[in-house]
Amino acid sequence: MSSAPSAVTKRPSLRRYLKLRHYALRYLDIQIAMLICSLLSGFGSMLSPYLTKLTFDFAYANRDWQLLVALAVAGFVMMLFSQVGSNVQQYLQLYASQNLTFAMRADFLRHLYSLPLSFFHARSTGEHIYRLNSDVPGTSSFIGGIVSTLISPFFSAIYPLLGIIWLDWRFAIVAVVATPIFIAHSRYFGRRQRELSRVTMAEGQRIESEAIDRIAQIKMVKAFGHEKREIRAYLSNQIKLIRLAYRSYWIRIWSGISSGIIDSLFQGSLGLYLGYRVVVVGDMTVGTVIALSMYVVQLINAARRLSGLYQDILNHLVPVDRVLDILEQDNRIKEPLNATSPGPLQGALALREVSFGYSAENPVLKEVSLEIEPGSFVALVGPSGIGKTTIFNLLLRLYDPDCGEVLIDGKPLKQLQLSPFRQQVGIVLQETYLFNDTIHENIRYGNPNASDEEIHQAARQADAEEFIQSLPEGYETKVGESGCLLSAGQRQRIGIARALVRRPSILLLDEATASLSSTSEAKILEALRPRERELTLVVVTHRLAAVRNADRIFVLHEGRIAEEGTHAYLLAQEGIYRKLWDSQFGEKETRAAEL
Ligand SMILES: Nc1ncnc2c1ncn2[C@@H]1O[C@H](COP(=O)(O)OP(=O)(O)O)[C@@H](O)[C@H]1O
Ligand SMILES: [Mg+2]
Repeated sequence: MSSAPSAVTKRPSLRRYLKLRHYALRYLDIQIAMLICSLLSGFGSMLSPYLTKLTFDFAYANRDWQLLVALAVAGFVMMLFSQVGSNVQQYLQLYASQNLTFAMRADFLRHLYSLPLSFFHARSTGEHIYRLNSDVPGTSSFIGGIVSTLISPFFSAIYPLLGIIWLDWRFAIVAVVATPIFIAHSRYFGRRQRELSRVTMAEGQRIESEAIDRIAQIKMVKAFGHEKREIRAYLSNQIKLIRLAYRSYWIRIWSGISSGIIDSLFQGSLGLYLGYRVVVVGDMTVGTVIALSMYVVQLINAARRLSGLYQDILNHLVPVDRVLDILEQDNRIKEPLNATSPGPLQGALALREVSFGYSAENPVLKEVSLEIEPGSFVALVGPSGIGKTTIFNLLLRLYDPDCGEVLIDGKPLKQLQLSPFRQQVGIVLQETYLFNDTIHENIRYGNPNASDEEIHQAARQADAEEFIQSLPEGYETKVGESGCLLSAGQRQRIGIARALVRRPSILLLDEATASLSSTSEAKILEALRPRERELTLVVVTHRLAAVRNADRIFVLHEGRIAEEGTHAYLLAQEGIYRKLWDSQFGEKETRAAEL
Protein backbone atom coordinates (compact mmCIF):
# COMPACT_ATOMS: atom_id res chain seq x y z
CA MET A 1 0.00 0.00 0.00
CA SER A 2 1.24 3.45 -0.67
CA SER A 3 1.37 5.70 2.28
CA ALA A 4 1.47 9.16 0.82
CA PRO A 5 0.85 11.79 3.42
CA SER A 6 -2.56 13.12 2.63
CA ALA A 7 -2.24 16.58 1.14
CA VAL A 8 -3.82 19.13 3.42
CA THR A 9 -6.93 19.61 1.41
CA LYS A 10 -9.15 19.40 4.42
CA ARG A 11 -9.55 22.53 6.42
CA PRO A 12 -7.57 22.38 9.60
CA SER A 13 -9.90 21.85 12.49
CA LEU A 14 -8.93 23.63 15.65
CA ARG A 15 -10.95 21.27 17.77
CA ARG A 16 -8.93 18.39 16.50
CA TYR A 17 -5.61 20.04 17.30
CA LEU A 18 -6.78 20.98 20.75
CA LYS A 19 -6.59 17.29 21.55
CA LEU A 20 -2.84 17.78 21.72
CA ARG A 21 -3.03 20.80 24.01
CA HIS A 22 -1.71 18.91 27.02
CA TYR A 23 1.60 18.58 25.20
CA ALA A 24 1.77 22.34 24.65
CA LEU A 25 0.74 23.03 28.23
CA ARG A 26 3.31 20.66 29.65
CA TYR A 27 6.10 23.12 28.84
CA LEU A 28 4.11 26.32 29.08
CA ASP A 29 6.68 27.95 31.38
CA ILE A 30 9.44 27.17 28.91
CA GLN A 31 7.33 28.42 26.04
CA ILE A 32 6.78 31.73 27.83
CA ALA A 33 10.49 31.99 28.59
CA MET A 34 11.15 31.40 24.89
CA LEU A 35 8.76 34.13 23.94
CA ILE A 36 10.40 36.59 26.34
CA CYS A 37 13.82 35.73 24.94
CA SER A 38 12.70 36.29 21.41
CA LEU A 39 11.00 39.58 22.30
CA LEU A 40 14.13 40.77 24.07
CA SER A 41 16.39 39.81 21.22
CA GLY A 42 13.99 41.52 18.78
CA PHE A 43 14.10 44.62 20.93
CA GLY A 44 17.89 44.58 20.73
CA SER A 45 17.83 44.50 16.94
CA MET A 46 15.28 47.29 16.95
CA LEU A 47 17.58 49.60 18.88
CA SER A 48 20.60 49.22 16.64
CA PRO A 49 19.36 51.45 13.75
CA TYR A 50 18.56 54.12 16.29
CA LEU A 51 22.08 53.93 17.70
CA THR A 52 23.36 54.36 14.15
CA LYS A 53 21.26 57.47 13.75
CA LEU A 54 22.67 58.90 16.99
CA THR A 55 26.17 58.16 15.78
CA PHE A 56 25.70 60.15 12.59
CA ASP A 57 23.59 62.99 13.85
CA PHE A 58 25.31 63.67 17.15
CA ALA A 59 28.68 61.95 17.45
CA TYR A 60 29.82 62.77 13.91
CA ALA A 61 28.01 66.06 13.53
CA ASN A 62 29.47 67.42 16.79
CA ARG A 63 32.80 65.64 16.46
CA ASP A 64 31.99 64.11 19.88
CA TRP A 65 34.36 61.15 20.02
CA GLN A 66 33.45 60.24 23.56
CA LEU A 67 29.83 59.85 22.50
CA LEU A 68 31.00 57.78 19.55
CA VAL A 69 32.81 55.37 21.87
CA ALA A 70 29.81 55.24 24.20
CA LEU A 71 27.46 54.48 21.28
CA ALA A 72 29.81 51.82 19.94
CA VAL A 73 29.90 50.15 23.34
CA ALA A 74 26.11 50.39 23.61
CA GLY A 75 25.78 48.84 20.14
CA PHE A 76 28.08 46.02 21.11
CA VAL A 77 26.17 45.34 24.31
CA MET A 78 22.89 45.41 22.38
CA MET A 79 24.28 42.90 19.92
CA LEU A 80 25.47 40.61 22.71
CA PHE A 81 22.12 40.91 24.40
CA SER A 82 20.34 40.01 21.21
CA GLN A 83 22.63 37.05 20.57
CA VAL A 84 22.27 35.68 24.08
CA GLY A 85 18.50 36.04 23.82
CA SER A 86 18.27 34.12 20.58
CA ASN A 87 20.67 31.40 21.73
CA VAL A 88 18.84 30.87 24.99
CA GLN A 89 15.64 30.68 23.00
CA GLN A 90 17.12 28.02 20.73
CA TYR A 91 18.31 26.05 23.70
CA LEU A 92 14.88 26.16 25.32
CA GLN A 93 13.28 25.14 22.05
CA LEU A 94 15.62 22.16 21.83
CA TYR A 95 14.90 21.19 25.43
CA ALA A 96 11.14 21.39 25.03
CA SER A 97 11.02 19.63 21.69
CA GLN A 98 13.37 16.81 22.70
CA ASN A 99 11.39 16.10 25.83
CA LEU A 100 8.12 16.32 23.97
CA THR A 101 9.39 14.05 21.21
CA PHE A 102 10.31 11.45 23.78
CA ALA A 103 6.93 11.65 25.50
CA MET A 104 5.00 11.66 22.23
CA ARG A 105 6.98 8.73 20.83
CA ALA A 106 6.11 6.76 23.95
CA ASP A 107 2.42 7.65 23.70
CA PHE A 108 2.33 7.05 19.97
CA LEU A 109 4.00 3.66 20.19
CA ARG A 110 1.82 2.59 23.10
CA HIS A 111 -1.25 3.53 21.11
CA LEU A 112 0.03 1.87 17.95
CA TYR A 113 0.67 -1.41 19.74
CA SER A 114 -2.82 -1.29 21.21
CA LEU A 115 -4.48 -1.10 17.79
CA PRO A 116 -6.12 -4.18 16.33
CA LEU A 117 -4.40 -6.37 13.76
CA SER A 118 -6.85 -5.31 11.07
CA PHE A 119 -5.43 -1.80 11.33
CA PHE A 120 -1.94 -3.08 10.55
CA HIS A 121 -3.10 -5.27 7.70
CA ALA A 122 -4.32 -2.23 5.79
CA ARG A 123 -1.06 -0.28 6.09
CA SER A 124 2.59 -0.79 5.31
CA THR A 125 5.23 -1.11 7.99
CA GLY A 126 7.18 1.70 6.32
CA GLU A 127 4.30 4.04 7.02
CA HIS A 128 4.37 3.45 10.76
CA ILE A 129 8.13 3.85 10.84
CA TYR A 130 7.86 7.09 8.90
CA ARG A 131 5.31 8.43 11.35
CA LEU A 132 7.38 7.45 14.32
CA ASN A 133 10.68 8.76 12.94
CA SER A 134 9.54 11.83 11.15
CA ASP A 135 5.99 12.93 11.90
CA VAL A 136 6.24 12.63 15.67
CA PRO A 137 9.37 14.82 15.96
CA GLY A 138 7.84 17.22 13.41
CA THR A 139 4.76 17.51 15.57
CA SER A 140 6.57 17.89 18.85
CA SER A 141 9.01 20.54 17.66
CA PHE A 142 6.06 22.51 16.30
CA ILE A 143 4.04 22.18 19.48
CA GLY A 144 7.09 22.76 21.67
CA GLY A 145 7.56 26.23 20.17
CA ILE A 146 3.98 27.09 19.30
CA VAL A 147 3.69 30.16 21.55
CA SER A 148 6.63 32.03 20.14
CA THR A 149 5.91 30.77 16.60
CA LEU A 150 2.51 32.39 16.78
CA ILE A 151 3.42 35.59 18.62
CA SER A 152 6.98 36.66 17.86
CA PRO A 153 6.52 37.27 14.08
CA PHE A 154 4.04 39.99 14.92
CA PHE A 155 6.53 41.66 17.18
CA SER A 156 9.30 41.47 14.62
CA ALA A 157 7.03 43.55 12.34
CA ILE A 158 5.82 45.89 15.07
CA TYR A 159 9.30 46.79 16.33
CA PRO A 160 10.65 48.32 13.08
CA LEU A 161 7.27 49.91 12.40
CA LEU A 162 7.46 51.65 15.78
CA GLY A 163 10.98 52.79 14.92
CA ILE A 164 9.80 54.26 11.62
CA ILE A 165 6.84 56.05 13.21
CA TRP A 166 9.12 57.44 15.87
CA LEU A 167 11.52 58.85 13.29
CA ASP A 168 9.08 60.13 10.67
CA TRP A 169 5.37 59.27 10.73
CA ARG A 170 4.74 60.33 7.11
CA PHE A 171 7.34 57.91 5.94
CA ALA A 172 5.63 55.21 8.00
CA ILE A 173 2.57 55.59 5.78
CA VAL A 174 4.67 55.03 2.65
CA ALA A 175 6.25 51.96 4.18
CA VAL A 176 2.94 50.47 5.26
CA VAL A 177 1.41 51.09 1.84
CA ALA A 178 4.35 49.42 0.09
CA THR A 179 4.53 46.25 2.20
CA PRO A 180 1.51 44.49 0.60
CA ILE A 181 3.50 44.24 -2.65
CA PHE A 182 6.18 42.25 -0.85
CA ILE A 183 3.58 40.20 0.95
CA ALA A 184 1.79 39.35 -2.30
CA HIS A 185 5.04 38.37 -3.95
CA SER A 186 6.20 36.05 -1.20
CA ARG A 187 2.75 34.55 -0.82
CA TYR A 188 2.56 33.66 -4.49
CA PHE A 189 5.93 31.99 -4.67
CA GLY A 190 5.71 30.59 -1.17
CA ARG A 191 2.50 28.77 -1.96
CA ARG A 192 3.86 27.26 -5.16
CA GLN A 193 7.06 26.19 -3.46
CA ARG A 194 5.24 24.57 -0.56
CA GLU A 195 2.76 22.82 -2.79
CA LEU A 196 5.67 21.34 -4.67
CA SER A 197 7.52 20.27 -1.56
CA ARG A 198 4.41 18.56 -0.30
CA VAL A 199 4.12 16.58 -3.53
CA THR A 200 7.83 15.77 -3.36
CA MET A 201 7.50 14.49 0.18
CA ALA A 202 4.49 12.34 -0.64
CA GLU A 203 6.16 10.87 -3.73
CA GLY A 204 9.43 10.31 -1.89
CA GLN A 205 7.71 8.45 0.85
CA ARG A 206 5.70 6.31 -1.55
CA ILE A 207 8.82 5.39 -3.51
CA GLU A 208 10.72 4.59 -0.35
CA SER A 209 8.11 2.27 1.07
CA GLU A 210 7.76 0.52 -2.29
CA ALA A 211 11.52 -0.02 -2.42
CA ILE A 212 11.58 -1.37 1.13
CA ASP A 213 8.81 -3.79 0.23
CA ARG A 214 10.58 -5.08 -2.89
CA ILE A 215 13.95 -5.50 -1.25
CA ALA A 216 12.31 -7.29 1.66
CA GLN A 217 10.75 -9.71 -0.84
CA ILE A 218 13.99 -10.22 -2.73
CA LYS A 219 13.53 -13.97 -3.02
CA MET A 220 10.26 -13.50 -4.82
CA VAL A 221 11.73 -10.88 -7.14
CA LYS A 222 14.63 -13.17 -8.05
CA ALA A 223 12.45 -16.25 -8.45
CA PHE A 224 10.32 -14.40 -10.98
CA GLY A 225 13.40 -12.92 -12.68
CA HIS A 226 12.09 -9.42 -12.11
CA GLU A 227 15.31 -7.76 -10.93
CA LYS A 228 15.68 -5.55 -14.01
CA ARG A 229 12.05 -4.61 -13.87
CA GLU A 230 12.29 -3.56 -10.23
CA ILE A 231 15.42 -1.54 -10.90
CA ARG A 232 13.75 0.15 -13.85
CA ALA A 233 10.65 0.92 -11.81
CA TYR A 234 12.78 2.37 -9.03
CA LEU A 235 14.84 4.48 -11.38
CA SER A 236 11.85 5.83 -13.24
CA ASN A 237 10.44 6.86 -9.88
CA GLN A 238 13.71 8.59 -9.13
CA ILE A 239 13.44 10.46 -12.42
CA LYS A 240 10.08 11.79 -11.24
CA LEU A 241 11.78 13.08 -8.11
CA ILE A 242 14.54 14.69 -10.15
CA ARG A 243 11.95 16.48 -12.29
CA LEU A 244 10.30 17.76 -9.15
CA ALA A 245 13.66 19.01 -7.90
CA TYR A 246 14.16 20.94 -11.15
CA ARG A 247 10.71 22.46 -10.93
CA SER A 248 11.47 23.60 -7.44
CA TYR A 249 14.73 25.12 -8.68
CA TRP A 250 12.92 27.13 -11.34
CA ILE A 251 10.40 28.43 -8.86
CA ARG A 252 13.27 29.62 -6.71
CA ILE A 253 14.97 31.28 -9.70
CA TRP A 254 11.85 33.16 -10.77
CA SER A 255 11.13 34.13 -7.23
CA GLY A 256 14.67 35.47 -6.84
CA ILE A 257 14.59 37.43 -10.11
CA SER A 258 11.22 39.01 -9.44
CA SER A 259 12.02 39.86 -5.88
CA GLY A 260 15.30 41.42 -7.05
CA ILE A 261 13.32 43.62 -9.46
CA ILE A 262 10.78 44.62 -6.82
CA ASP A 263 13.49 45.28 -4.26
CA SER A 264 15.57 47.48 -6.53
CA LEU A 265 12.52 49.44 -7.72
CA PHE A 266 11.47 49.99 -4.14
CA GLN A 267 14.91 50.86 -2.85
CA GLY A 268 15.54 53.11 -5.83
CA SER A 269 12.43 55.17 -5.24
CA LEU A 270 13.05 55.08 -1.52
CA GLY A 271 16.56 56.46 -2.09
CA LEU A 272 15.21 59.19 -4.36
CA TYR A 273 12.54 60.17 -1.85
CA LEU A 274 14.87 60.22 1.15
CA GLY A 275 17.54 62.08 -0.83
CA TYR A 276 14.91 64.63 -1.81
CA ARG A 277 13.99 65.13 1.86
CA VAL A 278 17.61 65.54 2.93
CA VAL A 279 18.96 67.68 0.11
CA VAL A 280 16.01 69.60 -1.34
CA VAL A 281 13.58 69.98 1.56
CA GLY A 282 16.33 69.72 4.15
CA ASP A 283 14.07 68.46 6.94
CA MET A 284 15.79 65.10 7.48
CA THR A 285 19.23 64.23 8.81
CA VAL A 286 21.60 61.67 7.30
CA GLY A 287 21.33 59.60 10.47
CA THR A 288 17.55 59.41 10.11
CA VAL A 289 17.87 58.32 6.50
CA ILE A 290 20.22 55.49 7.41
CA ALA A 291 18.11 54.38 10.36
CA LEU A 292 14.95 54.50 8.25
CA SER A 293 16.47 52.35 5.53
CA MET A 294 17.56 49.82 8.14
CA TYR A 295 14.09 49.73 9.63
CA VAL A 296 12.49 49.32 6.22
CA VAL A 297 14.62 46.24 5.51
CA GLN A 298 13.61 44.80 8.89
CA LEU A 299 9.97 45.58 8.23
CA ILE A 300 9.95 43.98 4.79
CA ASN A 301 11.60 40.83 6.08
CA ALA A 302 9.14 40.63 8.92
CA ALA A 303 6.20 41.21 6.58
CA ARG A 304 7.43 38.45 4.32
CA ARG A 305 7.66 36.09 7.23
CA LEU A 306 4.28 37.13 8.54
CA SER A 307 2.69 36.60 5.14
CA GLY A 308 4.02 33.05 5.07
CA LEU A 309 2.99 32.39 8.64
CA TYR A 310 -0.41 30.91 7.90
CA GLN A 311 0.94 28.67 5.15
CA ASP A 312 3.88 27.80 7.36
CA ILE A 313 1.55 26.70 10.10
CA LEU A 314 -0.49 24.67 7.62
CA ASN A 315 2.74 22.98 6.60
CA HIS A 316 3.65 22.20 10.17
CA LEU A 317 0.19 20.75 10.58
CA VAL A 318 0.82 18.04 7.97
CA PRO A 319 2.77 15.83 10.39
CA VAL A 320 0.43 16.83 13.21
CA ASP A 321 -2.51 15.53 11.17
CA ARG A 322 -0.69 12.31 10.46
CA VAL A 323 0.05 11.75 14.13
CA LEU A 324 -3.55 12.49 15.03
CA ASP A 325 -4.73 10.03 12.36
CA ILE A 326 -3.20 7.31 14.50
CA LEU A 327 -3.95 8.67 17.95
CA GLU A 328 -7.61 9.06 17.00
CA GLN A 329 -7.94 5.43 15.99
CA ASP A 330 -10.00 3.98 18.73
CA ASN A 331 -11.26 0.61 17.57
CA ARG A 332 -8.99 -1.03 20.06
CA ILE A 333 -9.64 -4.26 21.85
CA LYS A 334 -10.28 -2.96 25.31
CA GLU A 335 -10.30 -4.54 28.70
CA PRO A 336 -13.08 -3.34 30.95
CA LEU A 337 -11.86 -1.24 33.87
CA ASN A 338 -12.84 -3.97 36.29
CA ALA A 339 -11.28 -6.79 34.25
CA THR A 340 -10.64 -9.81 36.41
CA SER A 341 -7.36 -11.63 36.59
CA PRO A 342 -7.69 -15.00 34.90
CA GLY A 343 -5.55 -16.71 37.55
CA PRO A 344 -3.92 -20.02 36.62
CA LEU A 345 -5.96 -21.39 33.71
CA GLN A 346 -7.69 -24.75 33.75
CA GLY A 347 -7.82 -24.70 29.99
CA ALA A 348 -11.56 -25.01 29.26
CA LEU A 349 -12.39 -23.21 26.01
CA ALA A 350 -15.78 -22.51 24.51
CA LEU A 351 -17.36 -20.54 21.72
CA ARG A 352 -21.03 -19.80 22.28
CA GLU A 353 -23.00 -18.98 19.13
CA VAL A 354 -20.12 -16.96 17.78
CA SER A 355 -20.56 -15.13 14.49
CA PHE A 356 -17.68 -13.25 13.00
CA GLY A 357 -16.43 -11.75 9.76
CA TYR A 358 -13.40 -9.57 9.02
CA SER A 359 -15.73 -7.35 7.05
CA ALA A 360 -19.50 -6.99 7.11
CA GLU A 361 -19.90 -8.47 3.59
CA ASN A 362 -17.92 -11.60 4.31
CA PRO A 363 -19.13 -13.54 7.32
CA VAL A 364 -16.61 -16.26 8.16
CA LEU A 365 -18.13 -17.96 11.20
CA LYS A 366 -21.88 -18.36 11.60
CA GLU A 367 -23.18 -19.10 15.07
CA VAL A 368 -20.40 -21.48 15.88
CA SER A 369 -20.62 -23.21 19.23
CA LEU A 370 -17.97 -25.52 20.49
CA GLU A 371 -16.80 -26.75 23.83
CA ILE A 372 -13.28 -27.93 24.66
CA GLU A 373 -12.67 -29.68 27.95
CA PRO A 374 -9.65 -28.71 30.04
CA GLY A 375 -6.70 -31.03 29.50
CA SER A 376 -8.04 -32.53 26.31
CA PHE A 377 -6.54 -32.93 22.88
CA VAL A 378 -8.83 -31.69 20.13
CA ALA A 379 -8.51 -31.07 16.42
CA LEU A 380 -10.13 -28.58 14.07
CA VAL A 381 -10.34 -29.80 10.51
CA GLY A 382 -11.82 -28.42 7.35
CA PRO A 383 -10.80 -27.03 3.99
CA SER A 384 -8.50 -24.07 3.66
CA GLY A 385 -10.17 -20.67 4.09
CA ILE A 386 -13.03 -22.05 6.17
CA GLY A 387 -12.14 -20.16 9.37
CA LYS A 388 -9.83 -22.33 11.46
CA THR A 389 -7.23 -19.64 11.97
CA THR A 390 -10.09 -17.25 12.63
CA ILE A 391 -11.23 -19.39 15.56
CA PHE A 392 -7.72 -19.16 17.00
CA ASN A 393 -7.75 -15.40 16.49
CA LEU A 394 -10.96 -15.22 18.51
CA LEU A 395 -9.66 -17.53 21.23
CA LEU A 396 -6.66 -15.22 21.68
CA ARG A 397 -8.91 -12.17 21.46
CA LEU A 398 -6.97 -10.72 18.57
CA TYR A 399 -10.48 -9.96 17.33
CA ASP A 400 -13.81 -9.76 19.11
CA PRO A 401 -16.75 -11.75 17.74
CA ASP A 402 -19.60 -9.81 16.13
CA CYS A 403 -22.12 -11.87 18.08
CA GLY A 404 -21.78 -14.53 20.72
CA GLU A 405 -19.16 -15.09 23.34
CA VAL A 406 -15.79 -16.69 23.86
CA LEU A 407 -15.49 -18.36 27.25
CA ILE A 408 -12.29 -19.31 29.04
CA ASP A 409 -12.78 -21.58 32.03
CA GLY A 410 -16.44 -20.59 31.83
CA LYS A 411 -15.68 -16.86 32.12
CA PRO A 412 -16.27 -14.44 29.24
CA LEU A 413 -12.92 -13.62 27.66
CA LYS A 414 -14.00 -9.99 27.36
CA GLN A 415 -14.00 -9.69 31.13
CA LEU A 416 -10.46 -10.98 31.58
CA GLN A 417 -7.19 -9.14 31.76
CA LEU A 418 -5.64 -9.90 28.42
CA SER A 419 -1.95 -9.94 29.08
CA PRO A 420 -1.95 -12.48 31.94
CA PHE A 421 -4.37 -14.58 29.92
CA ARG A 422 -2.23 -14.61 26.79
CA GLN A 423 0.85 -15.37 28.87
CA GLN A 424 -0.65 -18.78 29.60
CA VAL A 425 -1.41 -19.54 25.98
CA GLY A 426 1.13 -20.90 23.54
CA ILE A 427 0.43 -20.48 19.88
CA VAL A 428 2.27 -21.65 16.83
CA LEU A 429 1.14 -19.78 13.78
CA GLN A 430 0.65 -21.10 10.30
CA GLU A 431 3.72 -19.16 9.25
CA THR A 432 6.54 -19.10 11.75
CA TYR A 433 7.94 -15.63 12.21
CA LEU A 434 11.48 -15.69 13.46
CA PHE A 435 13.56 -12.67 14.37
CA ASN A 436 16.97 -12.22 12.82
CA ASP A 437 18.76 -13.50 15.90
CA THR A 438 20.13 -16.78 17.28
CA ILE A 439 17.98 -19.91 17.63
CA HIS A 440 18.44 -19.65 21.38
CA GLU A 441 17.03 -16.11 21.48
CA ASN A 442 14.18 -16.99 19.14
CA ILE A 443 13.04 -19.79 21.41
CA ARG A 444 13.52 -17.63 24.48
CA TYR A 445 11.18 -15.02 23.03
CA GLY A 446 8.38 -17.27 24.23
CA ASN A 447 9.52 -16.85 27.81
CA PRO A 448 12.24 -14.29 28.52
CA ASN A 449 12.81 -15.87 31.96
CA ALA A 450 13.44 -19.37 30.68
CA SER A 451 16.70 -21.02 31.71
CA ASP A 452 18.98 -22.64 29.15
CA GLU A 453 17.86 -26.03 30.36
CA GLU A 454 14.19 -25.13 29.80
CA ILE A 455 15.01 -23.90 26.33
CA HIS A 456 16.77 -27.16 25.47
CA GLN A 457 13.92 -29.19 26.90
CA ALA A 458 11.39 -27.26 24.79
CA ALA A 459 13.55 -27.85 21.73
CA ARG A 460 13.64 -31.58 22.50
CA GLN A 461 9.85 -31.75 22.82
CA ALA A 462 9.54 -29.95 19.50
CA ASP A 463 11.82 -32.53 17.87
CA ALA A 464 14.25 -29.71 17.10
CA GLU A 465 17.27 -30.50 19.23
CA GLU A 466 18.77 -32.97 16.81
CA PHE A 467 18.93 -30.56 13.89
CA ILE A 468 19.99 -27.64 16.09
CA GLN A 469 22.95 -29.62 17.41
CA SER A 470 23.96 -30.60 13.91
CA LEU A 471 24.40 -26.91 13.01
CA PRO A 472 28.00 -25.70 13.36
CA GLU A 473 27.08 -23.12 15.97
CA GLY A 474 24.20 -25.04 17.56
CA TYR A 475 21.83 -22.86 19.53
CA GLU A 476 23.94 -19.81 18.72
CA THR A 477 23.27 -20.07 14.98
CA LYS A 478 21.77 -16.92 13.51
CA VAL A 479 18.59 -17.69 11.61
CA GLY A 480 18.84 -14.80 9.11
CA GLU A 481 16.18 -12.35 8.01
CA SER A 482 12.80 -13.90 8.93
CA GLY A 483 14.62 -17.17 9.56
CA CYS A 484 15.50 -17.57 5.89
CA LEU A 485 18.64 -19.61 6.65
CA LEU A 486 16.49 -22.48 7.93
CA SER A 487 14.08 -24.76 6.15
CA ALA A 488 10.35 -24.28 6.65
CA GLY A 489 10.17 -27.42 8.77
CA GLN A 490 13.07 -26.28 10.95
CA ARG A 491 11.43 -22.91 11.42
CA GLN A 492 8.22 -24.59 12.47
CA ARG A 493 9.96 -26.70 15.06
CA ILE A 494 11.61 -23.62 16.54
CA GLY A 495 8.18 -21.99 16.57
CA ILE A 496 6.79 -24.94 18.51
CA ALA A 497 9.69 -24.83 20.97
CA ARG A 498 9.05 -21.13 21.43
CA ALA A 499 5.43 -21.83 22.35
CA LEU A 500 6.38 -24.70 24.67
CA VAL A 501 8.96 -22.78 26.63
CA ARG A 502 6.11 -20.68 27.97
CA ARG A 503 4.76 -23.78 29.74
CA PRO A 504 1.33 -22.89 28.43
CA SER A 505 -1.95 -24.14 29.86
CA ILE A 506 -3.44 -23.91 26.39
CA LEU A 507 -1.47 -24.74 23.28
CA LEU A 508 -2.83 -23.82 19.86
CA LEU A 509 -1.11 -25.30 16.84
CA ASP A 510 -2.27 -23.76 13.58
CA GLU A 511 -1.00 -26.03 10.81
CA ALA A 512 2.18 -25.82 12.83
CA THR A 513 3.40 -29.14 11.57
CA ALA A 514 2.42 -28.74 7.92
CA SER A 515 6.00 -28.45 6.71
CA LEU A 516 7.18 -31.50 8.63
CA SER A 517 7.20 -35.10 7.53
CA SER A 518 4.23 -37.10 8.79
CA THR A 519 6.59 -39.08 11.02
CA SER A 520 7.95 -35.96 12.64
CA GLU A 521 4.43 -34.54 12.97
CA ALA A 522 3.20 -37.70 14.67
CA LYS A 523 6.23 -37.73 16.96
CA ILE A 524 5.69 -34.16 18.10
CA LEU A 525 1.94 -34.57 18.63
CA GLU A 526 2.56 -37.73 20.58
CA ALA A 527 5.10 -35.90 22.77
CA LEU A 528 2.69 -33.03 23.36
CA ARG A 529 -0.41 -35.08 23.93
CA PRO A 530 -1.73 -34.07 27.34
CA ARG A 531 -1.40 -36.91 29.82
CA GLU A 532 -2.16 -35.45 33.19
CA ARG A 533 -4.58 -32.79 32.05
CA GLU A 534 -1.75 -30.30 32.35
CA LEU A 535 -2.43 -28.84 28.91
CA THR A 536 -5.30 -28.23 26.54
CA LEU A 537 -4.04 -28.93 23.06
CA VAL A 538 -5.93 -27.65 20.02
CA VAL A 539 -4.52 -28.65 16.67
CA VAL A 540 -5.39 -27.53 13.18
CA THR A 541 -4.03 -29.82 10.54
CA HIS A 542 -4.77 -31.11 7.08
CA ARG A 543 -3.35 -34.52 7.84
CA LEU A 544 -6.21 -36.34 9.46
CA ALA A 545 -4.03 -39.28 10.41
CA ALA A 546 -2.05 -37.06 12.79
CA VAL A 547 -5.09 -36.28 14.91
CA ARG A 548 -6.73 -39.66 14.72
CA ASN A 549 -6.13 -40.08 18.45
CA ALA A 550 -7.67 -36.75 19.42
CA ASP A 551 -10.27 -36.77 22.16
CA ARG A 552 -12.55 -34.80 19.91
CA ILE A 553 -12.49 -33.64 16.31
CA PHE A 554 -14.49 -30.65 15.07
CA VAL A 555 -15.26 -30.53 11.36
CA LEU A 556 -15.86 -27.06 9.96
CA HIS A 557 -18.08 -26.70 6.95
CA GLU A 558 -19.56 -23.50 5.47
CA GLY A 559 -18.87 -21.41 8.54
CA ARG A 560 -20.36 -23.88 10.99
CA ILE A 561 -19.30 -26.92 12.96
CA ALA A 562 -20.84 -29.61 10.80
CA GLU A 563 -19.70 -32.66 12.73
CA GLU A 564 -17.91 -33.42 15.96
CA GLY A 565 -16.78 -36.52 17.81
CA THR A 566 -13.96 -38.99 17.97
CA HIS A 567 -12.31 -40.35 14.86
CA ALA A 568 -14.15 -43.65 15.06
CA TYR A 569 -17.49 -41.96 15.65
CA LEU A 570 -17.04 -39.54 12.74
CA LEU A 571 -16.00 -42.33 10.36
CA ALA A 572 -19.10 -44.23 11.26
CA GLN A 573 -21.26 -41.18 10.50
CA GLU A 574 -20.37 -41.49 6.82
CA GLY A 575 -20.46 -37.65 6.53
CA ILE A 576 -18.03 -34.93 5.60
CA TYR A 577 -15.25 -36.29 7.78
CA ARG A 578 -15.62 -39.68 6.18
CA LYS A 579 -15.28 -38.15 2.74
CA LEU A 580 -12.21 -36.17 3.78
CA TRP A 581 -10.62 -39.26 5.27
CA ASP A 582 -11.38 -41.35 2.23
CA SER A 583 -9.91 -38.73 -0.07
CA GLN A 584 -6.67 -38.87 1.91
CA PHE A 585 -6.38 -42.58 2.42
CA GLY A 586 -8.59 -44.22 -0.15
CA GLU A 587 -11.71 -46.12 0.71
CA LYS A 588 -10.13 -49.51 0.63
CA GLU A 589 -7.44 -48.67 3.15
CA THR A 590 -10.03 -47.14 5.43
CA ARG A 591 -12.16 -50.24 5.34
CA ALA A 592 -9.06 -52.37 5.86
CA ALA A 593 -8.05 -50.26 8.84
CA GLU A 594 -11.50 -50.52 10.32
CA LEU A 595 -11.50 -54.27 10.15
N1 LIG B 1 -7.13 -10.40 8.14
C1 LIG B 1 -8.12 -10.77 7.33
N2 LIG B 1 -8.88 -9.80 6.76
C2 LIG B 1 -9.90 -10.15 5.95
N3 LIG B 1 -10.25 -11.40 5.65
C3 LIG B 1 -9.53 -12.39 6.18
C4 LIG B 1 -8.43 -12.13 7.05
N4 LIG B 1 -7.91 -13.31 7.44
C5 LIG B 1 -8.66 -14.27 6.84
N5 LIG B 1 -9.63 -13.73 6.09
C6 LIG B 1 -10.66 -14.46 5.35
O1 LIG B 1 -11.40 -15.21 6.29
C7 LIG B 1 -11.66 -16.50 5.82
C8 LIG B 1 -11.18 -17.54 6.81
O2 LIG B 1 -9.78 -17.47 6.90
P1 LIG B 1 -8.93 -18.40 7.85
O3 LIG B 1 -9.56 -18.44 9.20
O4 LIG B 1 -7.53 -17.93 7.78
O5 LIG B 1 -9.07 -19.80 7.14
P2 LIG B 1 -8.33 -21.19 7.46
O6 LIG B 1 -9.41 -22.13 7.78
O7 LIG B 1 -7.62 -21.57 6.22
O8 LIG B 1 -7.37 -20.94 8.59
C9 LIG B 1 -10.99 -16.61 4.47
O9 LIG B 1 -12.01 -16.46 3.50
C10 LIG B 1 -10.05 -15.44 4.39
O10 LIG B 1 -10.03 -14.93 3.10
MG1 LIG C 1 -5.41 -21.02 8.58
